[in-house]
Amino acid sequence: MKLWAISDLHIGVMQNREALRDLSSFPEDWLILAGDVCESIDDLAQAFAWCVKKFARVIWVPGNHELWLVDAGDKSRTSQSKYIDLINLARSFGVLTPEDPWEFFPKTGHLIVPLTTMYDYSFRPDHISREEVISWAAEQDCVCSDEILIKTQTPAGVDRWSAQLCDQAEQRFQKELPEGVQTILINHFPLREDLVHIPRVPRFSPWCGTKRTNDWHIRYRASVVISGHLHVRRTDWRDGTRFEEVSLGYPRQWDPAKGLQYYLRDVSP
Ligand SMILES: [Fe+2]
Ligand SMILES: [Fe+2]
Repeated sequence: MKLWAISDLHIGVMQNREALRDLSSFPEDWLILAGDVCESIDDLAQAFAWCVKKFARVIWVPGNHELWLVDAGDKSRTSQSKYIDLINLARSFGVLTPEDPWEFFPKTGHLIVPLTTMYDYSFRPDHISREEVISWAAEQDCVCSDEILIKTQTPAGVDRWSAQLCDQAEQRFQKELPEGVQTILINHFPLREDLVHIPRVPRFSPWCGTKRTNDWHIRYRASVVISGHLHVRRTDWRDGTRFEEVSLGYPRQWDPAKGLQYYLRDVSP
């Protein structure tokens, strides 16, 4: 029984879609999908349909791409309302989401904690203010498409949503994390700024997470933390916790000759 993880499948791209469709079955194993599966709800439904057939249990957290509003005809929607729709979709396939009761991975007894936290532009240099951060990123053409495609309920935007999500997660940890239990944390965005390794697009960092989560691996006793978003596969260690960036990425970022199976990361503690 293995615990596999992958993120950033981006199945809106045909080559990635076919790779997920053609992936072998692992009937004993569990699969973590750490966000950026796709943009459209129909594509996400297709991904869930394939994955629940291939794996014993599927766990999913949203990436920024899932929260993009790509249907131009539906102007009243916000990314928050799409999030609720996506959670309901996942549940209809029996996929575990950040809004569900946490489950133990039977083989190791670790508590699996899927998270949604977003970003608040705090991953920026000290000398750049929040007001300046978008133009600072624009100077090197690094502004994230989220600025157009993610729409929030309040004018304060993603900053405020991220703060609310972090508040909710912290309250849940306080209430629901049993004493002494070790965890596996799953979040699309890296939990720490020092895990953002993006040398090709350094000014993309403001869209990569929030400083609020910097010590969550210690506070919430994580043996492993799984994330994606960066499209830079890595394993890092901090304070005895293993951090796994498990992105597949766009076709130029992975080798189809190796097959998708090669990119599944065994994240068992
Ligand atoms: Fe991605
Ligand atoms: Fe992402």
